[in-house]
Amino acid sequence: MRHNNFKVNETKNKKLHEISSPGNILQLRVGLNGDQLWYELLRGNKHIIQTSSLVLVAQDTNILSFSIEPEIIQDSFDETWEQPWGEQRFVRNNYNELAVVADSVTVRFRLFDEGLGFRYELRGQGEITIQREETDFNIPNNAQAWWIPALGQNHYEHLYKKTSLPDIDTAHTPLTLELEDGGYIAIHEAALYDYGAMNLVPTDEGLRSRITPLMSGDAATVALPFNMPWRTVTTAETAAELGVPKIMLNLNEPSKIEDTSWIVPTKFMGIWWGMFIGYFTWASGELHGATTRNALRYINAAKKFGISALLIEGWNETWDGDWTKNGARMNHMQPYPDFDIHVVTQYAASQGVDIIGHHETSGNISHYEWELPEAYDYYSLLGVRYIKTGYVAPRFDTGDFHSSQVGVRHYQKTVELAAERKIMLDIHEPVKGTGIERTWPNLMTREGVMGQEYEGGAITPEHATVLPYTRLLAGPLDYTPGLFNLSGTSRKVQTTLAKQLAFYVTMYSPMQMVADIPEHYEDHPAFAFIKDVPVNWEVTRPLDGVIGDYFVTARKDRSQDNWYVGGVSDEESRTVTVKLDFLEDHRTYVATIYRDADDAHWQNNPEAYTIEERHVGSNDSLTITMAPGGGFAVRIVPEGQTAHPYPGIHGVEQNYR
Ligand code: NOJ
Repeated sequence: MRHNNFKVNETKNKKLHEISSPGNILQLRVGLNGDQLWYELLRGNKHIIQTSSLVLVAQDTNILSFSIEPEIIQDSFDETWEQPWGEQRFVRNNYNELAVVADSVTVRFRLFDEGLGFRYELRGQGEITIQREETDFNIPNNAQAWWIPALGQNHYEHLYKKTSLPDIDTAHTPLTLELEDGGYIAIHEAALYDYGAMNLVPTDEGLRSRITPLMSGDAATVALPFNMPWRTVTTAETAAELGVPKIMLNLNEPSKIEDTSWIVPTKFMGIWWGMFIGYFTWASGELHGATTRNALRYINAAKKFGISALLIEGWNETWDGDWTKNGARMNHMQPYPDFDIHVVTQYAASQGVDIIGHHETSGNISHYEWELPEAYDYYSLLGVRYIKTGYVAPRFDTGDFHSSQVGVRHYQKTVELAAERKIMLDIHEPVKGTGIERTWPNLMTREGVMGQEYEGGAITPEHATVLPYTRLLAGPLDYTPGLFNLSGTSRKVQTTLAKQLAFYVTMYSPMQMVADIPEHYEDHPAFAFIKDVPVNWEVTRPLDGVIGDYFVTARKDRSQDNWYVGGVSDEESRTVTVKLDFLEDHRTYVATIYRDADDAHWQNNPEAYTIEERHVGSNDSLTITMAPGGGFAVRIVPEGQTAHPYPGIHGVEQNYR
């Protein structure tokens, strides 16, 4: 544990200013202890963040020490803006602002009813090297934390740990805390550009930022003037509410892409899971997955199932041998001889299916950056509008961490080059999300999680009940849901089938995978839910949950009056009651409930589920039991609009084993 040497000295301590959030929910105090800047955050009379110091060191000097009292400037803002895609269409951006202004730096605080954002804005000219940043988040009493380790081998691909605060190692953000005397907070950042990602380490009083270092050990070298990323603290009374605030998005700039009409959320199948269950290989040979023939078969399947895009991995030469070492010669313009990319893309276009191109870099960003403009042009000429990129490697070829300033710059370059060509991105092994998709909405989604490719042993039933309160606070998540064959392949999946359906509601992504191989969806009545569920939402209402136990959320379709509810449970069976008071009053709806069968269990009976229909209104509620490792998904459609593509589901209760 590192010692925090900042103690408020009552005699030298001075409060500079205090502001309240627009609805008077939160109070922010800012002051000086000697020349040392501090802040504290209160909800009512209760501290959420106790007096905490802010330190930013360059040339061995703390830039945030003020020998002359800084000027204080206040402001406020209230605007509602519309997202081209998202968990909710309209976002209210309402805050009171307090800026602490000195000669060379402004510390800007924005206080929302749901939390705080603040950043350091450096003035001047030339370059400056930030040696370290020590932004403190002093937490009252003890707290329970959910976190994943940073600066190791596996990036964000870990199960979350639950520990008390002092037992945290260096952790990624978002980091979620349950406070001892009630309430939750999540610490994260917004608008991460040209700087290392913020990690957190414990101190005697709470947590302190530690920036992912460059190879030199410094945090970053930046050109002045420079606005650093926002540090954010989101607060909520209940765990489920943690996902509601859109502070992260509000602290990002509006879209730099004026015409966003080409940016289209989609579901997609993939020549992908077949590699994990041993049906195909990325590499050439008898089992090569990305052949012309197989691609056409998958395109036909996608069309038949009503899924509008297809990811094809392993299509380009350089997968033979240990591909994780092939980064320096990964060639994204040279298809394997058995993959006729022209035939595949033309056939896909004729069937109205988008091809999602794939660029695995094996972490060699030097090579990839050299190839980038041409590789994107190549896809663009072929009519490919989506690309999934991958960066498998413990570190980049440069030696840098993925979440370092070098990494942040690299990912940003891919986003901007893609935007110039009207290409949408899904990034695997990314740097975490910080809301920059508001500014660059062609950055659709990221993995950056222990996703379903780890199914078969590593993922526990609990994992999906932690992600909505942690990873998902960083934005869209490509969790690769939709596995239907749960114990009949080499990978024993630790969920029930109903829980796989629930993921389409509980794990938000505007690019949502339909991950299993087509054969496993054939004639499967539960596929109706995947076909119907949208990937773009008007409104999202997290309803209920306990971190690591369960989570229930409701979302309304952006283009229809339909609602969807998803629930996931950990290894325990549990019954939840979902009040339907979000429905319009005086209207009747038909709810199609996809739930675990009474004897379902992730271990020995995962694919047993039931489909039921009920007529419901806003005064009704649904009581649903989730199996151990189970879940449920509900589609609620105004009566009269229930046209359904699968005959036989209507009106009758059916059990499918
Ligand atoms: C590793 C990723 O985790 C996996 O999803 C991907 O298919 C392969 N890399 C190839 O890019």
